[in-house]
Amino acid sequence: MRASRPRQIRTEEISGLVDEFALAFRNAKLAGFDGVEIHAANGYLFDQFMNSTLNTRGDSYGGQTPQTRTRLLLDVVDAAILEWGADRIGVRLSPFGRYNSMPSDPHAEETLLYLCTQLSHRKLGYVHMLYQLMPSGNMEDSEFNEIHLSDALVRKVREAFRGTVIWCGGFTKNTAQAALDTGWVDLIAFARPFVANPDLVARFKNDWPVADAERSAFYTRDGEKGYTDFSNFVAPLLSPGR
Ligand SMILES: Cc1cc2nc3c(=O)[nH]c(=O)nc-3n(C[C@H](O)[C@H](O)[C@H](O)COP(=O)(O)O)c2cc1C
Repeated sequence: MRASRPRQIRTEEISGLVDEFALAFRNAKLAGFDGVEIHAANGYLFDQFMNSTLNTRGDSYGGQTPQTRTRLLLDVVDAAILEWGADRIGVRLSPFGRYNSMPSDPHAEETLLYLCTQLSHRKLGYVHMLYQLMPSGNMEDSEFNEIHLSDALVRKVREAFRGTVIWCGGFTKNTAQAALDTGWVDLIAFARPFVANPDLVARFKNDWPVADAERSAFYTRDGEKGYTDFSNFVAPLLSPGR
């Protein structure tokens, strides 16, 4: 089946879109999840609405002010809160991110801080931010440890949002600990290290060596290659009965 040609959603259609998210939140509950993370990062729908360069709409969801840019996301957050309660909801953000060809946004900081204040008023469980920036917008980019959000900005986020702050992006055990020691963040999330180390937590706890993920296999479909074929995979040694 061919995908339909993208078009701008009409203002009167937006409440229907929010209803679809509400249905997804209900379904997540029926499926037995513990909560919901709303993905507003990395160039997906909410990120597009929040980017003042990209959002050229002229309506109440348009790119003119932080209020209008974040309205869609906050409508959806409110629908999630109705279903779950605020403490079971998180929002994922990538301020200044370039992933998925996002254009630079002169109002990114203003939007982020407004949003964090709004999420704080609602007593949301957490904000999950991409701390490392990818200059090429490419997940396989090895440079991506070099550039990160400024200290000044992460302090402002900490002040604006009173709930739990999570960072992710390029962390190792040591850099994660150093980040936690700053007090500007409560938790660090890991993605690529888990690809190569399903037993990552045990490796961190025991100071065991951590295998490097095979970048060339990230988006391939060659079965186990790059996922379960790491030679120093030690998890089976830890399973019960061994
Ligand atoms: C193979 C792979 C696929 C990913 N796919 C997505 C995606 O579809 N959408 C997204 O927002 N982030 C995606 N990510 C990004 C991760 O969620 C995470 O933010 C990122 O890898 C940074 O954390 P890390 O340095 O611990 O890997 C992907 C990462 C990897 C390695």
